[in-house]
Amino acid sequence: MKERALHAISECRHLATMTEEPGRITRRFLTRPVHDVHAHLRDRMVALGMEVRVDAVGNLRGEWAPQNAGKRRLVLGSHIDTVPDAGAFDGVLGVVMALEWVRLAQQDLLPMAIEVIAFSEEEGVRFGVPFIGSRAVAGRFDPTLLALKDGNGISVGDAIRAFGLDPTTVDDARVHADALGFVEIHIEQGPTLEAESRSLAVVSRIVGQTRLSIEFGGQANHAGTTPMHMRRDALAGAAEWITVVEAFASRTEDLTATVGRVLIEPNAGNVIPGKARISLDVRHALDAEREKAVEELLTRGRVIADRRALGFECTRQMNEPAVPMDERLTTYLAHAVEAAGFPARTMASGAGHDAMVMATRLPAAILFLRSPGGISHHPAETVLEEDVEAALHVGRIFLARVASEAGS
Ligand code: HGY
Ligand code: MN
Ligand code: MN
Repeated sequence: MKERALHAISECRHLATMTEEPGRITRRFLTRPVHDVHAHLRDRMVALGMEVRVDAVGNLRGEWAPQNAGKRRLVLGSHIDTVPDAGAFDGVLGVVMALEWVRLAQQDLLPMAIEVIAFSEEEGVRFGVPFIGSRAVAGRFDPTLLALKDGNGISVGDAIRAFGLDPTTVDDARVHADALGFVEIHIEQGPTLEAESRSLAVVSRIVGQTRLSIEFGGQANHAGTTPMHMRRDALAGAAEWITVVEAFASRTEDLTATVGRVLIEPNAGNVIPGKARISLDVRHALDAEREKAVEELLTRGRVIADRRALGFECTRQMNEPAVPMDERLTTYLAHAVEAAGFPARTMASGAGHDAMVMATRLPAAILFLRSPGGISHHPAETVLEEDVEAALHVGRIFLARVASEAGS
């Protein structure tokens, strides 16, 4: 298994070279480098004897269905899009590992079909809305998404057609409703497993998240001739609110609130910003606490905007409730972790994953691998070969358990 673990890591690093931006890893939904990722993964799937297709929203899907599978089918996968200046493992490790698990299932002649899905869009970077890929697979694709435009005025529908796909066939993307479940292998992206010197963990639940776009509207004017008391500076108002967001979240237990993106107009050094459009990402394990925090932060934003005679517009881009993972699959995974010789550890996920969308359609579970340095969404993101090898051993045990318990 050691050599397969090393192979998986080098494969992720190879896929990381397929980027929109030479010198750093950026691969947004259906951009040019996705064709190269599809070509590489398609070859891997064909070599494993899998039937391969690309669905209407660009999910690449491989299916292994042995004669003796009967109705037993498991779905594995993760996403192949990335944040800007990303690491080499967020998402794509889950696809590479899923193919390694298929390899193990074939070696062990398991009587179970396995579909591997490389989801086209989980991060929500290009169009501001995440999970476009898994929404289509889970039968939750909202056709109004097709009209959303990216920073270049290209709509989701245009991007799909430009990639050579047909958005009108999105219903064909739905996953087999009789599948046993969906399992995602993913890096933890946080500091917990490293702090506890553990290789692996099984996810108990994924925290809920709200993503908003807030626009402060002021008055652009000359930076040199406009006295300070006569300004309506949209960026200054947004900046005051951003410090309030950070202070509020810092004193609210288990809450995270992040402003990660700021777009300013007209964005010139000698012009008072007339418009500041900022993102807000709020997460908490308890939905009521998250909703309460969102309302409190919006109220405080309106107070600041009113005092500064600024406009304050809020657009809700996403509102995903906290999602518990499936008890049975999570137990099977935890037992497999222990049987592979690792202490079982369950934990909540502060990061969102395709599993939270797939969980609305199938029993879902996630296996976490340690994130050395606790860093992710950053080029320093990495994995340890020993942890990848551990996840392979767990996969062999877990798949055998699922296949044996799944009946005919
Ligand atoms: O933002 C997230 O939680 C995930 O990495 N997309
Ligand atoms: Mn991810
Ligand atoms: Mn991510």
